[in-house]
Amino acid sequence: MPRIAPSILSADFSRLGEEVRALDAAGADWIHLDVMDGHFVPNLTFGPQMVAALRPYTTKPFDVHLMIAPVDGFLDGFAKAGADILTLHPEAGPHLHRSLQQIKALGKKAGVALNPATSLSALEPIWGDIDLVLVMTVNPGFGGQAFIESQLEKIRAIRRQIDTLGKEIALEVDGGITPLTARQVLAAGADTLVAGTAVFQNGASGYAATMAALRG
Ligand code: DX5
Ligand code: ZN
Repeated sequence: MPRIAPSILSADFSRLGEEVRALDAAGADWIHLDVMDGHFVPNLTFGPQMVAALRPYTTKPFDVHLMIAPVDGFLDGFAKAGADILTLHPEAGPHLHRSLQQIKALGKKAGVALNPATSLSALEPIWGDIDLVLVMTVNPGFGGQAFIESQLEKIRAIRRQIDTLGKEIALEVDGGITPLTARQVLAAGADTLVAGTAVFQNGASGYAATMAALRG
């Protein structure tokens, strides 16, 4: 069964706590929190204070996607706020390995996100240091963008690599996920799907049905 990690980027921001509770009740596996700084990506969302405020609303893992640069100075704050997985982009700091070590030292799972134009070769030196790879199938910054199909080959290549390593590493895909593209990325080897627009488009009464449709 693929994991579903709804992105609250598409939720009602005036009621985020209740939205997180509703996603939990509807069967979300993880809650995906998109953190944007208006600099690394051309949009702004929220910081550690929001993550801490939402933490009491669910016991499901908080999958925190950091689209901020430089990222290192914020890792401690997000860890203390209740993040379970901290995912960063290789372009978000000068020393990726050091950032990953910092996440591990905080006792959290470490993820690396690859933009559409970032090669999977960025992962080569750090396979031993990560728990998750996040393949972006849109350019980060906004919900509701179209799925970039050329990323399917990258997902297949990463799946082959993870299977060769024999280490437990999640393969998550983020951007433009619908029931149709979910089938494509799952066939390519993904095990975790982030979805914003698709989950929220039919209102709270549709959360469970949409997540079931994404699982296939
Ligand atoms: C984009 C974010 C995504 C976004 C996905 O920068 O990382 O998590 O919320 O939204 P949809 O599912 O609408 O493409
Ligand atoms: Zn995301």
